[in-house]
Amino acid sequence: MTKVGISAAALPRHIAIVMDGNGRWAQGRGLPRTAGHRAGAQSVRRVVEACQERGIEVLTLFAFSSENWQRPASEVRLLLDLFVAALRKETDRIHEHNIRLRMIGDRVPFPRKLQNYIRRAETLTADNTGLELVIAANYGGRWDVLQAVRRLLQDAHAGRVDPATLSQDDLSHYISLHDLPEPDLFIRTGGEQRISNFLLWQLAYTEFYFTDCLWPEFAVPDLDQALAAYARRQRRFGRLAEQVEFNA
Ligand code: IPE
Ligand code: IPE
Ligand code: MG
Repeated sequence: MTKVGISAAALPRHIAIVMDGNGRWAQGRGLPRTAGHRAGAQSVRRVVEACQERGIEVLTLFAFSSENWQRPASEVRLLLDLFVAALRKETDRIHEHNIRLRMIGDRVPFPRKLQNYIRRAETLTADNTGLELVIAANYGGRWDVLQAVRRLLQDAHAGRVDPATLSQDDLSHYISLHDLPEPDLFIRTGGEQRISNFLLWQLAYTEFYFTDCLWPEFAVPDLDQALAAYARRQRRFGRLAEQVEFNA
């Protein structure tokens, strides 16, 4: 049993979170939206730590979607600056905590400085064996499928892949996070009940959990509530309840 009273077997191996509600949190306090993003960074710290303590293997955080470029330029700039600041400040601490960091998404449009910080953090932590922390930045589920198809077509063209025998498993190898367990639990804060182009392929059998709690307010008890809700779910993967109970 974990200290939250959930047996280790009932814990998700991989949690994916849409961290939504920063802007509304700030506006509700008469603050600029940017204050909400700063407060949201504190929640990230809390949740990463709690996931590690609870023995979660993978935590994937949606930090910036491929559609978020459409926000006012000043907000986009602040988000990118916060990303740089977080990497500069936290990379060593992440490494000390044995956390492995990776970024998914198209990093090419990012400022050079940000790309360098990402590369440095990934390289430094590559051999760590604790929590795998995945940051989805300039990520979109449709982009992910597109980059997979592009690389697949190149391999097919070069004769390395035979379209006639291509399996789902083969295709999944081109999609981000293929080397990790699939997300077991999807959490979205901020009250909206949508995927917003987060992981599409990977969420096929993920359990969804939505909360009205705004991301800057999301604290450890909220995470534990999501874990408890997950532990009560029965994952059938298309089978009958009796079959699942029999196999459990
Ligand atoms: C989520 O909070 C953070 C990002 C999308 C970068 P929002 O900025 O979307 O906050 P709301 O939804 O406007 O409250
Ligand atoms: C989703 O939140 C993206 C992130 C949390 C990074 P949005 O606030 O961008 O989603 P929509 O626009 O409400 O669907
Ligand atoms: Mg939002």
